[in-house]
Amino acid sequence: MFKLAQRLAKIPPYLFAELDLLKKKVISKGIDVIDFGVGDPDLPTPRFIVNALKRAVENSERQKYPSYEGMMEFRESVARFYKRRKNVKIDPESQVISLIGSKEGIAHLPLAFINKGDFVLVPDPGYPVYFSAAILANGTPFKLPLMGDNNFLPRLEEIPRNVARKAKIMFLNYPNNPTTAIATKEFIKEVIDFCKDNEIILAHDAAYSEITFDGYRSHSFLEYDSGFEVVIEFNSLSKSYNMTGWRIGFACGNEEIISGLLKVKTNVDSGVFEAIQVAAATALDYGDKVIDENCRIYEKRRDVLVEGLRELGFKIKSPKATFYVWCNVGGSSIEFTKKLLNKTGIVVTPGIGFGEFGEGYVRFALTKTVNKIQEAIERMKSSFSKDAF
Ligand SMILES: Cc1ncc(COP(=O)(O)O)c(C=O)c1O
Repeated sequence: MFKLAQRLAKIPPYLFAELDLLKKKVISKGIDVIDFGVGDPDLPTPRFIVNALKRAVENSERQKYPSYEGMMEFRESVARFYKRRKNVKIDPESQVISLIGSKEGIAHLPLAFINKGDFVLVPDPGYPVYFSAAILANGTPFKLPLMGDNNFLPRLEEIPRNVARKAKIMFLNYPNNPTTAIATKEFIKEVIDFCKDNEIILAHDAAYSEITFDGYRSHSFLEYDSGFEVVIEFNSLSKSYNMTGWRIGFACGNEEIISGLLKVKTNVDSGVFEAIQVAAATALDYGDKVIDENCRIYEKRRDVLVEGLRELGFKIKSPKATFYVWCNVGGSSIEFTKKLLNKTGIVVTPGIGFGEFGEGYVRFALTKTVNKIQEAIERMKSSFSKDAF
């Protein structure tokens, strides 16, 4: 009786929901599943952040409607974080807003700037929300292939002129989910210039900015002064501090873009619970050690998984960032995922779920202990070989 809007029909089903069904089937057969599927840290939120929330929630002043843009206390902590960790100066008053997780901001941005038919440039493979957010705003997503032979950076020269002229937003994400690629400073400069020339908003999703290894530190797209002319950078406490369930992130950068996004948000949500903002400010100000510890944990897991996969015959680059491993399986990613699950009880995410150019790869999330990773490698060694696939 009730017909869904046409725009919803254009959105492919959310991949993780389908995977969950498949996984449930295997679990119901009594198989002990090792799930490298969804990128949700297995580590708990650190105690001092939980305690900060507890204290804040007791204060009745913190129980009221929050402001739309976020508390000054939270936005100032974002500015301090960017100065300390990225050497970027941000005005907390006009260049930062709180978000109910970075996903929320990413999903709402096109509503602020896209008219029917405008192009939204989206990386493929990529976090599925860029594509669906473009559709929900009646925009036209245009895919930017991220290919291994270009270090998973888009080739800007391949964007047709008429598309670049009609594009209003370009989404990018480095360190990248799912490919684990990182952006060089040269590339960042090049893409900022491209967006300036074509008057495109550069929406940089930096959700994994702090999860880096081997001494590498990721770059903010706001490191360049010219970044402030076109960039809105999304960031999140979810991955850096094991706070996925808390739903808090932020957007910072160009004032006009920030205020456009805020105008949408003012009409659809009422901000982030203040007690969560206070705890998040504590994390941003005092959580550098947590980030370091997390990185060490993921780095160790990465080493064990990469080495094991290499022993199994897979050729993979060891990632410098994110908590994923992007593994070339040389064939259908869905077939590989299904066979792996059925034969070994191991869940990975098929690359095609992140877009057509993710085909041929699967993604492992490093959200399992070293012991579990070792067990998974053993299972694969005994009942699953790359060549058999
Ligand atoms: C690339 C990327 N961006 C954004 C998000 C959303 O993070 P959150 O909404 O928890 O801040 C995720 C979550 O998995 C992600 O992988």
